[in-house]
Amino acid sequence: MALTGVGRLGRRLALVLVVAVAFGGAAHLPGVLPRAQLPRASAAEAATTTIVIQLGGVASGFSPSSVTLAHGDVLRVVNKDTMVHTVTSVAVDAAGDPLFNLVVAAHATGTLVIPETLGAGKYSFYCMIHPNMQGTLVVTGEGGGVPEPPAFEQALRIPEVLTARNLTIPLRRSDVRVMPTGPKTRMWTYGGSFPGPTIKRPAGSVTRVTFINNLPKRAGAMTVHQHGGHQSSADDGQPTRQLIATGSRRTYTYPLTDAGKPAPAGFRFYHDHRMGRTAANNWRGLQGMFLVTDKRERRLGLPHGAYDVPLHLTDRSLTPDNQLTDPFPGPHMRDWMTGPLAPPNDATVGKRILVNGQFAPYLRVEPALYRLRLLNASTFSAYDLALSDGRPLVQVGTGSALLPRSVERPDILLGPAQRADVVVDFRGLGDEDVILSTIPRTDTTHGTGSRAAAIMQFRVRGTAHQSARVPDHLRPVPALDVPEEVAEVWTFGLTKDSHGSFWSINGKMFDPGRVDHRVRQGTTERWRLRNSSDVTHYVHLHEEQWRTVSRNGKPPPPWERGLEDTWKLDPGEEVVVAATFRDYTGPFMVHCHMLDHEDHGMMAQFEVFRPPADTRRLEVATRLRTSAGSP
Ligand code: C2O
Ligand code: CU
Repeated sequence: MALTGVGRLGRRLALVLVVAVAFGGAAHLPGVLPRAQLPRASAAEAATTTIVIQLGGVASGFSPSSVTLAHGDVLRVVNKDTMVHTVTSVAVDAAGDPLFNLVVAAHATGTLVIPETLGAGKYSFYCMIHPNMQGTLVVTGEGGGVPEPPAFEQALRIPEVLTARNLTIPLRRSDVRVMPTGPKTRMWTYGGSFPGPTIKRPAGSVTRVTFINNLPKRAGAMTVHQHGGHQSSADDGQPTRQLIATGSRRTYTYPLTDAGKPAPAGFRFYHDHRMGRTAANNWRGLQGMFLVTDKRERRLGLPHGAYDVPLHLTDRSLTPDNQLTDPFPGPHMRDWMTGPLAPPNDATVGKRILVNGQFAPYLRVEPALYRLRLLNASTFSAYDLALSDGRPLVQVGTGSALLPRSVERPDILLGPAQRADVVVDFRGLGDEDVILSTIPRTDTTHGTGSRAAAIMQFRVRGTAHQSARVPDHLRPVPALDVPEEVAEVWTFGLTKDSHGSFWSINGKMFDPGRVDHRVRQGTTERWRLRNSSDVTHYVHLHEEQWRTVSRNGKPPPPWERGLEDTWKLDPGEEVVVAATFRDYTGPFMVHCHMLDHEDHGMMAQFEVFRPPADTRRLEVATRLRTSAGSP
């Protein structure tokens, strides 16, 4: 975009979002300038064009979806829906900010005066919260064009790798180089970096990680969950118990085994799981990667060493001085059950997509095979990942384990906490650059989508010194005798009561004191996961590695035939899963991994109990209750 001759201030004004809140007397949203401060359009010719978002806008989108305006014209967006929507340009400026971004509250109208600085051209836009809603703005007249993708200015950082049996990781505040220039970003970190150090350990080797909470007192007590891990309830990062108070420490034991055998090799991660604050604590930086390796996997010949690159993808919004914004409502229930950030509008979408904590990095690669471990660690956003030259991603694993067979995919949709273990073939390229992007979701139009944005760049240079391959057959998934009968149905929905709205499972808000389902240790259960709401959820089950039995009554797609722990559930979708509860008793969690949803009620608990002792105790308790209650 041509910005020549435009002063700093003019440019900033051009990027300002205007929000007109329709309901009585409501003030401007924070960070929004009053209307009067905007550059004045030449009154005479200014025309107004209106886009309407109907009730159920996630499905119906913008109407019309294409509009043409000249500089000084007014774009009006009438939102008749019950959710916040945005009209956000796909194109970003050199700082990574969208060229325009109009946020319109539910039942409100927003206006945007087309600034002179927005050059003539065609701009795709989308809703940041529901990126499947898309449209085009054509600006007529003079001026520059749609800008290039961001400059890829920083070399990709690979977080420090820790391999010892006993590890100590302090939680502390640290200034992290997120943007290529300007101030560093203050974050709450594991071990001083973002993401934290990568823990890399062989399957079957017990690993003890001691976390010390050296965060400022106001951060409160912490709890750490190893996502995708199979560990005892007390080592699982409970949201309200076994916490790490300020100044104290806790050691988590990860046996990395399952039923006495080494657990499958996989790409997992560790992150904060504190009740009601998981979204904010993760946003502030409490995330790190966890790799489990094994020798058998090594023998398959997949790319390794420098050719095996873990990529932690997430998004954040930053202030002009590179500090994290605070998009979260207060910790009290009334703060999030009502108001503009109440479900279903709670969607923490960061403007900038970061890779290993950096905005728009590049990685120098050889013309060779690369194994990329892709993790979506975002709070809310899904990314449909694809390479700029149409090069496929060959998926070899889910992150929970290897797939039985490798599968070639043009793009891979990953929601929060989902991982994909892929191999990319850069062979035959010389001195070329390939961009990893997220594209608008290709597989559906009715679920929550993904935005279009460049994420990082691979610079293919030099010659390769590698012997690696991708076998068709990788690792069979051990057979499981799945019962016919469904032991539990978990329905993910939106519920309203007199206090406001909340995300729910089976109609209930999370209550750490309530057990929602009990499982007898040693049994195999078949569960059904259903989405009864209007938006997509990414549902995570703790404790076991799960088989996907079916998706919407059909066999799951090839990339869902391995082990899994997090599934996409579009509106109306139904996934059937199964696992055997062999090793551990106690409470474990079920929740949506869109962290705003998790914090706003969409979490439940199941408890594995040990027969017969527990059964006996239960029977005694029942008998006592009965005799006490008898007249
Ligand atoms: Cu990745 Cu219960 O969390
Ligand atoms: Cu959700």
